[in-house]
This record gives sequence, structure tokens and C-alpha cells, in this order.
Amino acid sequence: MAEIRFDDRVAIVTGAGGGLGRSHALMLASRGAKVVVNDLGGSMDGSGGGGSAAADKVVDEIKAAGGEATANYNGVDTWEGAQAIAKTAIDAYGKVDILVNNAGILRDISFHKMTMEDWDKVNQVHVNGTMNVSKAVWENMRENRYGRIVNTTSAAGLYGNFGQANYSAAKMAIVGLSKTLGIEGDKRGIKCNVIAPIAKSRMTETVMPPDILGKLLPEYVSALVGYLCSEGCQETGETYAVGGGYVSRVAVVEAPGVAIPVDKINPELVAEDWGKINDLTGAKAFNNAMEAAGQAMKAVMGG
Ligand code: NAI
Repeated sequence: MAEIRFDDRVAIVTGAGGGLGRSHALMLASRGAKVVVNDLGGSMDGSGGGGSAAADKVVDEIKAAGGEATANYNGVDTWEGAQAIAKTAIDAYGKVDILVNNAGILRDISFHKMTMEDWDKVNQVHVNGTMNVSKAVWENMRENRYGRIVNTTSAAGLYGNFGQANYSAAKMAIVGLSKTLGIEGDKRGIKCNVIAPIAKSRMTETVMPPDILGKLLPEYVSALVGYLCSEGCQETGETYAVGGGYVSRVAVVEAPGVAIPVDKINPELVAEDWGKINDLTGAKAFNNAMEAAGQAMKAVMGG
């Protein structure tokens, strides 16, 4: 198979000063992309910040390997910050072809102890951050009729996880946002997909044993990001679990369900059909809301 390259492509990777973002940036640059390495250099809970060292170090690494990169230190969590990130790419390289929304923070705490600030901060960085930077590059991608956006969710969002109500909500919001961007961008050549990674980083170092982390290097995740950022990738709105060489599509599916006659429907009939309602045999994934509504309508019309 021909090598996947990004020559003449301009990429932005948010939160690229360390962990997964650094690895995505190195991968894209090593295959010819000009990369904007964004990171505000904050701590894991989003406090602190304002440091340029993290992004600068990755830019230096890329340049030392013969690649092209520019640093940006803005936060993704404000619209002004996102616009400045896009401007860095346009000023340096004239366009944006690829956006990897990777920046993230954690404020893990059980729901009964969670403060409104814990909720707001996590949602601002993940949900608003992903939306802000996507919106800041959207017009440029539309004009150029080309774009590859890769967003970052988490198993905690897809499946839930104790102590992560704020993070789970934010990460699932990113999936919904990406599905609709995939639909809206398709006519203009913009593909938008999502990864649910598992990798060694400062986020996982304290919760996973070192022998397992050694098998979960960030570059294994970046391989999928490389494919999703490539011209050849035609999927859009999809989500992929990825880590340690494992790559797998994740989908929201709907069971065939039942159609209870509306002149009789009541809680008891729902209870009687509970087994069939929950049976995922023959469940389907849909490309958009209309397709899903179609299955419900077909059942109602007796089709
Ligand atoms: P990390 O903490 O090493 O990387 C996150 C980066 O984002 C940091 O360098 C941080 O400075 C930057 N950042 C934080 N807030 C920012 C903001 N407002 N603007 C710009 N940059 C900001 O952690 P890791 O593991 O590399 O995480 C990357 C992404 O992957 C995150 O979205 C995370 O939620 C997600 N993820 C990671 C998993 C893993 O196993 N490591 C599992 C599931 C999801």
C-alpha cells in the first residue's frame, strides 16, 4: 500500500504539548504536514496554564526531525482563543486542511461532590473547545472544499465511568457534534470522525499499572488518526475505539423493537414486551436522525 502522506497539507493539533496530541503532531509532521502545535501548558485539571514551554518543545522536536511546525499557546475553551489558533495556521501556512481536537482536562469527582465549576470547566474545554476550533476553521475548509477533522471522545463518555459525570457528558456531546459536522461538511469534502483512545499519558499514569501502560503508547493511537486525516478516508461521523494496536468501530445502534397498537398502549403492554424492546438481535446503526426515524415509522406503519 502507498505511504499515506500529508505534503502540502496544513494541520492544527490542539493540546499537542504532550501525551496523545504531541504524538499526533509528530506523526503528521513526519509525513509532510505543516503543523500548528497548540497547547496552553496547563495542569491536568485545567488550572495554571499560560506556559509556552510544552508547545515550543514539540515544535523543536518536529524541526529537529526535518519537519515544519509553528507553536500556538491559546486556550481552545474561548472563541477568541480558537480564532487565534486558526489565525496562526492561516498566517503561517495560508489554510487549514486538518484539525485534530485533542486538548482536554480532567476534574474527576463523584457527582454528589461535584461543583458547578468542575462541570463548567470540563465542558468548556472539551465541548466548547472542540466546537470553537472546528468553527474557527470551518469556513476555510468549506471554501477549500476539503477538510479532515478528528475529535476525541472517551470510553467514559460512550459507556459511563464512576466519578466522571462532567467528563462523560462532555465526551458524549463531542460524538453528537461530530455526527452533525460529518453530515453538514460532507458536500464540501469535510470529513469529521471521532476517536476513543486509550494510551499512556499523564491522564492515565496514576490509574493504570506500568506494565499495561507500556503496551499503550500514544503512537499506536496516532496511526488511526493518520488514516482518518488522510485524503483516502471517506468515512464521516464515525467513532473508533483505539489503543495498543486495537482499532474498532463504535456505533449507537437501535434494536428492531416492537410496535404496540396505539389504541391499547399502556405501561403494562410495555412491560409485557420488555424482553423484545431490549433485544439487540438485528440492531442497526443509522447514518442520520431521519434514517433512524424511518425504522420507527416502518414499524408503526406495519412495514
Ligand atoms: P494530556 O493531559 O497529556 O494532554 C492534554 C493536553 O491538552 C495537555 O497538554 C494540556 O496542556 C492541553 N490542554 C488542556 N486544556 C487546554 C486548553 N484549554 N487549550 C489548549 N490546550 C489545552 O492527556 P492525554 O491523555 O494526552 O489526552 C488527550 C485527549 O485524549 C484528551 O481529550 C483526553 O480526554 C483524551 N483521552 C485520553 C485517554 C487516555 O487513555 N490517555 C482516554 C480517553 C480520552
